Amino acid sequence: MSRTAQAQALYERLLPEAIAASKAAWCPHSDFPVGAALLTADDQIIRGCNVENVSYGLTNCAERSALFSAIAQGHAPGSFKAMLVYAPKVALISPCGACRQVMHELMLAHCPVFCVGHQESASRDWTIEQLLPGAFRF
Ligand code: THU
Repeated sequence: MSRTAQAQALYERLLPEAIAASKAAWCPHSDFPVGAALLTADDQIIRGCNVENVSYGLTNCAERSALFSAIAQGHAPGSFKAMLVYAPKVALISPCGACRQVMHELMLAHCPVFCVGHQESASRDWTIEQLLPGAFRF
């Protein structure tokens, strides 16, 4: 994966935070932990993890956990600088459709999203617009 030096610096800063976040995952039903690290405008890192429920549809993914937590802490929608998503049990993680819709509403079109699984060489860099082109909005 070739990145600009700036993108690589963001990646290296966010990866250990997302790894740490994945260790907090509550995933007894899937045994599939995911962690997310969200960089705010004032350079704080907000962590998120998946939180599952026995009523499966109530599960919250790591990406939405991080974003909802950041919004609840007063960070403005559209102010985020980057997100990194990490999942140790898959070679490369790809955000689900529900998260893509939420990310699209709360993050700017060109905001980078780094996706990483256990095969770091397979990691993939997206922008929000690339993750959900033609998103629903009104
Ligand atoms: N999951 C995430 O947290 N993020 C993703 O990008 C994909 C899936 C969670 C939801 C569920 O707890 C588990 O992974 C298996 O789908």
